[in-house]
Amino acid sequence: MEVLRDAAQMHRRASALRAEGRAIGFVPTMGYLHEGHLSLLRTARRENPILAVSIFVNPTQFDRQEDLESYPVDLEGDLAKAAAEGADLVFVPEQKSMYPDRYGTFVEVEGLTRRWEGTYRPGHFRGVTTIVAKLFHIVKPHRAYFGQKDYQQACVITRMVRDLDMDIEVVVLPTVREPDGLAMSSRNVHLTPGERRQAPVLYRALGWAADQVRRGERDAPGLAEGMRRMIQEGTTATIDYVAVCHPGSLEPLETVEGPAVALLAVRFSKVRLIDNLVIDRH
Ligand code: PAJ
Repeated sequence: MEVLRDAAQMHRRASALRAEGRAIGFVPTMGYLHEGHLSLLRTARRENPILAVSIFVNPTQFDRQEDLESYPVDLEGDLAKAAAEGADLVFVPEQKSMYPDRYGTFVEVEGLTRRWEGTYRPGHFRGVTTIVAKLFHIVKPHRAYFGQKDYQQACVITRMVRDLDMDIEVVVLPTVREPDGLAMSSRNVHLTPGERRQAPVLYRALGWAADQVRRGERDAPGLAEGMRRMIQEGTTATIDYVAVCHPGSLEPLETVEGPAVALLAVRFSKVRLIDNLVIDRH
C-alpha cells in the first residue's frame, strides 16, 4: 500500500495506472474509519483492480468551527484498516496543499442542496462538491463509492457528476448499522452514554414509517409527524428535520404513491446525527 501526501504525486500515479488501462475504484473519506467506510472499501476492492482511498478532513464543508476542531482523527489506525482491506493507494493531503492561500474556486450544485442539510448547514454541500471534484481530478477514478448514510450527499454528488460530464460511475451502497440499528458514524463517539442508549430511536422511527407504508398508510406529512413524536418522546435530542420525500428530487411528498425516502437530522448535546430509510409499498 502506498501512502501519497501530495496532489502532484497522486496525479502522476493515477495517470500512470490509467495509461496501463487499470480501473481505479475510489472511496473518499474524512477518516476515523468504521465498518460503514470499510464496507465501501470492500466493494470497491472487489469491483476494481486498483483501490484508492482518501483521508481528508475537509474544512470547507464544516459550517461550525467546533465540529471541525472536534472531528476525531486516527491516521495510524485508518492506515492499518485500509491496508487490511487491501487498499493500493491512500491519499492523505495536507490542508494547505488542497486549499493554498488565495484559493478561490468552488463547485455548487443548485436545487438539490437547498433543503434539509442545505438549510441547517449553510455552505456544507458547496464544500463537499468542491473537495469531491478536486479529489476526482487528482485520483482520476473510474468508479467512486459513497454511502447511503449521507443520502442527500450521494444525490448531490451524482448530480454534479452528471452536470459536469465527469466520466465516473457513482456507486451508492447501503448504510451499515450497529446491532441496535444506530447508523455508524465517526461522530457517534461524541454521544454521552445516555444519548447513545437513546439514539437507536432514530432507526426505530424510520422503520415504523416504512412499516406504516407497507400497511397502506399514504399520508406523508402524517408519517413525518409520527416519527417526530417517537423521537421527541424517546430522546432528549432536538429535531432539525424529519420528512418523507421523493427519492430523486428530495422534495417533500404529500402522498406516498411510489418509492420515497424518509430523512431526518437531530441534535444531541455535542453531536448532530442524520439518518434515512428508503421506503416502498412492498
Ligand atoms: P465521511 O463522513 O468520512 O464518509 C465517507 C463515506 O462513507 C461517505 O460516502 C459516507 O456516506 C460513507 N459512510 C459513512 N457512514 C456510513 C455508514 N454507516 N454506512 C455506509 N456508508 C457510510 O462523507 C464524507 O466523509 C465527506 O463528505 C466526503 C465525501 C469524504 C467529502 O469530504
